[in-house]
Amino acid sequence: MSELRIRAVSPGCGVEVQGIDLRRLTNSDFATLRDAFHRHGVLFVRGQDLEPDDHIAFARRWGEIVINEHFPEMVGRREIAVVAKEPEQKTNIGGGWHADHSYDPEPALGSILLAREVPESGGDTLFANMVAAWNGLSEGLKATLLTLRAHHSSRHLYGPGGLYEKTDLKARLKEGGSLSDALHPVAIRHPVTGETALYVNPGHTLRFDGWGRPESKVLLDWLFQHATQPRYTCRWTWRAGDVALWDNRSTWHLAVNDYDGQRRVMHRITIAGEALGAAAA
Ligand code: SIN
Repeated sequence: MSELRIRAVSPGCGVEVQGIDLRRLTNSDFATLRDAFHRHGVLFVRGQDLEPDDHIAFARRWGEIVINEHFPEMVGRREIAVVAKEPEQKTNIGGGWHADHSYDPEPALGSILLAREVPESGGDTLFANMVAAWNGLSEGLKATLLTLRAHHSSRHLYGPGGLYEKTDLKARLKEGGSLSDALHPVAIRHPVTGETALYVNPGHTLRFDGWGRPESKVLLDWLFQHATQPRYTCRWTWRAGDVALWDNRSTWHLAVNDYDGQRRVMHRITIAGEALGAAAA
């Protein structure tokens, strides 16, 4: 009989799944995991002894794998992006709040991050739940947001003159990765649960469609501070072997960069998603 148990990590976001081995999941345990993933947005599993091929096989149960355009790839395993920070590096990958691949017209369903090497202290990851953040808005603001779409892009990060060009991360990123832009509803209907989620994020959202950047920035900044209140977030302190899976349609994350001088190596696999529809007004 399955030993699978689920424990809340914080009241507003994320659960830890205990008593499972991701290499040997029964169909029934996988169904429970998938249900928890959609319900809570982020799952954490401690102490998984995954080889790269186990990681890939587990990811394939969720869908097609997306090869990241910018992150370094594991040698011999293109499916695995290496999210690493070396002791001499200052900039990390994912150090600001974002939802992976929201700049793609069909944003990623989710990502599966496996901790390979972690600092002695620091290097946690924060997550925020965008269904909970949406539910915390006033009915008046929700009504306005339901009418809006927003522009997302990867150009200001990875493109010429972009943020990473000025950092010591630049030399470690792949060269020539394609850049993308996308227009998405600000309030999406989650493709599986049908719940409404706030779908703008600080990393990739530039402006509302039909609005200027300065006008957009005022409301976007307000939404960003609203969505990152402690009641919508959780924090995971990694041990080597831990796995986190998150739903990119309903969560944001941020890799805390507080461990200069130490090494942190994570393996990430991203799962393909679909175009996102607007929530009903
Ligand atoms: C990311 O996927 O943005 C990186 C997350 C992390 O390294 O904790």
